[in-house]
Parts: sequence; C-alpha cells; structure tokens
Amino acid sequence: MSVDLTSQYLGLTLKHPIVASAGPLTGELDSLCQLEQAGVSAVVLPSLFEEQITRDEQRIHSLYEYQTFSTAESLSYFPELDDHRSIPDHYLGLLASAKKALSIPVIPSLNGSTIGGWTRYAKSFADAGADAIELNIYFVPTDPRMTADDVEKRYADLVATVSNAVSIPIAVKIGAQFSSLVNFVPRLAAAGARGVVLFNRYLEPDIDLETLRIVPQLVLSHRNELRLPLRWIAILRDQVRISLGATSGVHLVEDVIKMLLVGADACLLTSSLLRHGPAYAEELVKKLREWLHLHEYDSVEQLKGSMSYHNSPDAGNLERANYMKALVSYTSD
Ligand SMILES: Cc1cc2nc3c(=O)[nH]c(=O)nc-3n(C[C@H](O)[C@H](O)[C@H](O)COP(=O)(O)O)c2cc1C
Repeated sequence: MSVDLTSQYLGLTLKHPIVASAGPLTGELDSLCQLEQAGVSAVVLPSLFEEQITRDEQRIHSLYEYQTFSTAESLSYFPELDDHRSIPDHYLGLLASAKKALSIPVIPSLNGSTIGGWTRYAKSFADAGADAIELNIYFVPTDPRMTADDVEKRYADLVATVSNAVSIPIAVKIGAQFSSLVNFVPRLAAAGARGVVLFNRYLEPDIDLETLRIVPQLVLSHRNELRLPLRWIAILRDQVRISLGATSGVHLVEDVIKMLLVGADACLLTSSLLRHGPAYAEELVKKLREWLHLHEYDSVEQLKGSMSYHNSPDAGNLERANYMKALVSYTSD
C-alpha cells in the first residue's frame, strides 16, 4: 500500500503527522523509547516552567549570598550544586538523553508568561540538539488596566525574544481565548513563530467544598474538544503559511483525518496515548494509511487543507450558521 504519509511541520519532515504531545509519557526516557518504537513521528517533552527556572535561580542566588557572608571554614560545609541536580539541569539531561537515544525529532517545551531570564533556556535547548522548541504561553490577565492589545503584545514580545535567541523553529502553543485569532496568529508569525499549536487545554481550577481551597483539576480530554481547534485550524489555514499543530481531543483516526482535512500539519496527542498506551500510535498510523488508500489519496499532503475554510463547500457552517442551525434543529431525546 504505497501512500506517502510524510508531513512538513515546522520545517521538519515528519514520517507521518502523529506526534506525542507533552505529557507524562514524554517525560521519561523509557516511555520516550516506547513511543518511538510504536512509531510516533516526533515527541514533545513536558514543559520546563518559568517558575521552575526562576526558583532555581533564586536558590543559586541565595547560596552565593550566603557564601559571601560565611567564613572560609563554613564554606566547606556547603553542598556542591551538582550534588542535587536542579529541575532545569534534570530537564537538559533528559533532552540530551532523548536526543542520543531517539532518531525522531525531539521538541522540548518552555512554558511561561513573562519576559525574563528564563527564556535563555531556549538557547540551552538548541545547544543540547533540540530539533525545535514548543513555547507554551499561558497568561491569565487579571489587571483591568491591561487591554487585549497589551496581552497580545506580551505574547508577541515573548515569541520574538525566544526566536531571536535561537535558529531552530519555534512553535507557539496558545489557548483559544483571543478576540481575533486571524489577526493574532499572523502577529505571532511576524514575531518569529514557525508554527502554532491549537489549543492549550486550560485546566480550570475547582473548589474543594470541605477545605474551601482552590484545587487544580486534571482530567483527560474528550473527543468533543477537537471541534474548537478543528474550526480555527480551518479558518487559519488560508490566512497563514506557518505550520498548524492540532491538539485537544484528537483520539481516533477519524479525528486525525478531520484535522488534516481542515489543514493541520501535525496532530499532537496526549490523552489517548495515556489511556491506551504508547502502542496505540502504531494502530493510528496503520488506520491512517488504510483510510488514505481506501479513499484513493496518494499522500497526506494531498489531503491537508482540502476542507479549509476557503476550500470547504459549506464554509458558513464554520461561522454563525453552524451555531444557529444547531440551536434551531435541537430535539430532545
Ligand atoms: C497529564 C498531562 C500533562 C501535560 N503536561 C503538559 C506540559 O507539561 N506542557 C504542555 O504544553 N502541555 C501539557 N499537557 C497538554 C498536552 O500536551 C496536550 O496538548 C493536551 O492534553 C491536549 O491533547 P489531548 O487531548 O490529546 O490530551 C499535558 C496533558 C496532560 C493530560
């Protein structure tokens, strides 16, 4: 069955569009190797967070401050930093080991929201051999003086800072809550992004009624969630030339095919691989090949974007028409 499954993503030639997204399975060398054996085309490591980097900097700073005021004798009690590796060091170690062990692209992830020293880790990632960087920007604006434009500028400035520091491609992972994505995503591209990953799943906090504390809630995604990135990838595909990665709710091969139809270059999966194990990737690739063959496609590239907003026979359904029809046609079971 000769179907060309390759897909161009961030300037990388992936052997097919199914990528292991950031998550627990990409955080250990063993499971990274299992994912490669199962045939994923690239891996995105879990994020190194701005807070982890700044905490480490503060730790080093306080060690040196302490040393300045110490006697020579007390210095000998001081633990060497290497005795207990910091989280950033551990992360760079994982990246280096993954690069050594795997032959597929390895994409580390930086996760933060402010312009600051933590962004220099992009350079460390590049030096450690990263094939690209995923920059996950997650900012919750709570200051009423901050306008939508201020927020978008902050994102663009962050992207420019990171992309100016390295020559490897940067993919920016964002949430969906922007007033005008078709204006904003080209702005990220102009700042240096080679791709965007749509969308970050914001894990909205919950309240524990017994303790009256705000608690984090992590649940794996549901297939229905794919409809949000599906719509926006369809709309953005005709507006930008940069790569589009689809994440959130891509579980079955049908979901992968839909994302490719609207114009995704890669599908980045976490929940389904966690639920079914790394070997599930192999099944998805096999079914993708079979579907393309059965429907007489020669390649993934041929399928990609053939149902983007402009190419879709009923583009109105990507806009208000869909909403109106759905509400009007509702019948109770
Ligand atoms: C347990 C868990 C950990 C995750 N860790 C990260 C992370 O460190 N950085 C990141 O950008 N996304 C992270 N994600 C988000 C996933 O990479 C992915 O984008 C999201 O779960 C949507 O894809 P899915 O529907 O296939 O799960 C995590 C998701 C889960 C479930």
